[in-house]
Amino acid sequence: MKFDFTYFNPTKIYFGKTALENLSSELANYGDTVLLVYGKGSVKKSGLYDKMIKILNEAGKKIVELAGIKSNPSYKQMMEGARLVRENHADLILAVGGGSVIDCAKAISISAYCKGDPWQRYWIDYEEVDNEIVPVGAVLTMAGTGSEMNGGSVITNEEKMLKNGRVYPPNVYPKFSILNPEYTYTVPKYQMASGIFDTFSHLLEQYFSGTDDNTTDYVIEGVLRSLTHSARAALKNPEDYEARSNIMWCATIGLNTITGLSKEQDWEVHMIEHQLGAYTDCAHGAGLAAISTAYYKYIYKFGIDKFVRFAKNVWDVNTDTLSKEEAAMAGIEKLSNFIRELGLPSSLRELGATEEMLPLIAKSTIQGGGYKQMDENDILTVLKNCY
Ligand code: NZQ
Ligand code: ZN
Repeated sequence: MKFDFTYFNPTKIYFGKTALENLSSELANYGDTVLLVYGKGSVKKSGLYDKMIKILNEAGKKIVELAGIKSNPSYKQMMEGARLVRENHADLILAVGGGSVIDCAKAISISAYCKGDPWQRYWIDYEEVDNEIVPVGAVLTMAGTGSEMNGGSVITNEEKMLKNGRVYPPNVYPKFSILNPEYTYTVPKYQMASGIFDTFSHLLEQYFSGTDDNTTDYVIEGVLRSLTHSARAALKNPEDYEARSNIMWCATIGLNTITGLSKEQDWEVHMIEHQLGAYTDCAHGAGLAAISTAYYKYIYKFGIDKFVRFAKNVWDVNTDTLSKEEAAMAGIEKLSNFIRELGLPSSLRELGATEEMLPLIAKSTIQGGGYKQMDENDILTVLKNCY
């Protein structure tokens, strides 16, 4: 393990079919008022909303609601939530939904008592959070982001055309998260695939960096194999509990810092996607899918040994008879085929991007990278290659 690290994850996970039974005892740890945050209606359709209200009522809580959180949650919704927390003195923010709802709940939790403009201070200037943080709990309904066990909060400022994410320290992580894989049965196929590829991408962003022999890379390879296997099973039968539970756990450990330990990490596919999302409002995982093949074809030469290893250990490519170049490309081809198998887009055009947007996206993307440091021109080339 090349880099020193401190590992601490404070989120308590309740996992499985009976996980929701633990909500009452968790609620007892907090005061009377709960801000219930949810999305555009799936929780009402599935009946989960009614169950939540019943549990909250039985626990004697005053319920304040913030409904309609959109995919790629907005700055405006976050500010509305912050106002509700302040006015009602909420003691707990309970997020019921996917990554967007949980990200928004975390954003509200740090913004409610922020002095000054939280967007500028926390998402642009990356200041440390120096105000009270209202605790967040989560009931997850869609697998993919890992937001249920991390400090990530990605918010879109629609006026400024910026989608910015930040990873906050453990005091911003959800205090507890309830993960029942059965809740994900109703996620539409495209969203399910998008979530699966989001997790896949998180693992790749962490994997494609470094040349040292690191246990974390072996862990990532194992999780990628499990995810691919279960994704195929869930595509065939969305109510395959074994597959859906594996996918859910892959998503959680794919971004709860375990799979990033002692790694340099890349994250440029995510940086590009965030700006693609700001311009097109596409589903996050679908955007990542459209960018990934072009990105990895652009950078593989700078870390070719890892790409050979990816082909061999993740996709079982027989690399012995191939040149490094051929083996690396075979792995990227497998990735590309998997994206097609998931039914996700392979081009930006399919997501509503126009040619005029490409330079704007390239200009506003945060520059970084793993094996290759990317500048604006590199990013524009990648965008053109997947347009
Ligand atoms: O709004 P509702 O009606 O609830 O519908 C949602 C939404 O339309 C639907 N859905 C969720 N659970 C469902 C369901 N539909 C039927 N049955 C269910 N059980 O799915 C749609 C997508 O939901 P959303 O929460 O937007 O998806 P996801 O979990 O992919 O979250 C995406 C957001 O997370 C950010 C992304 O950038 C994006 O803004 N990310 C957060 C990260 C983090 N916190 O660490 C890391 C990621 O890389 C990512 O950037
Ligand atoms: Zn992601």
